[in-house]
Amino acid sequence: MFTFAPTPGRDKTELYRELCSSALALTAGEPDAVANMANLSALIWTFVADLNWAGFYRVLPHAPGELVLGPFIGKPACIRIAFGSGVCGTAAASGTTQCVTDVHLFPGHIACDAASRSELVVPVLRHGAVIAVIDLDSPLPARFDADDAAGIEALAEAIAARI
Ligand code: SME
Repeated sequence: MFTFAPTPGRDKTELYRELCSSALALTAGEPDAVANMANLSALIWTFVADLNWAGFYRVLPHAPGELVLGPFIGKPACIRIAFGSGVCGTAAASGTTQCVTDVHLFPGHIACDAASRSELVVPVLRHGAVIAVIDLDSPLPARFDADDAAGIEALAEAIAARI
């Protein structure tokens, strides 16, 4: 049984530090990317409050220029997203984090769950190329700030070799 959980009362910096070390411990020695992304989605869900969706979209060799749905927690979601489309496609095309305080104001936002109000999408880079994005949705407006973005960016860097 795994018992990874955030220490109560930690500030965000500590919380994301714990998330990263838990992610490395949870994926240590496991070569299967899907298994690791499934567990990482559950870990994010456990550590980060007020989410309605948390998971991965992947860049696959047989589908250049688009993201393909990977392991996640939340409602069923759109399966393929073109680079440049929506929040995820914008993160993938630009290779930069997208922290969206109000998804209704993001041009081309793709609504997979009508409850989503804010969103954080962080690209996962390996050897300078985007291999996936980590997508977090919240039903709360402006749920994510620069500390959340920095925390998930640190996670993306930590697990890039394990997915
Ligand atoms: N909202 C995303 C689509 C993915 S779902 O949120 C799971 C977007 O605009 O790219």
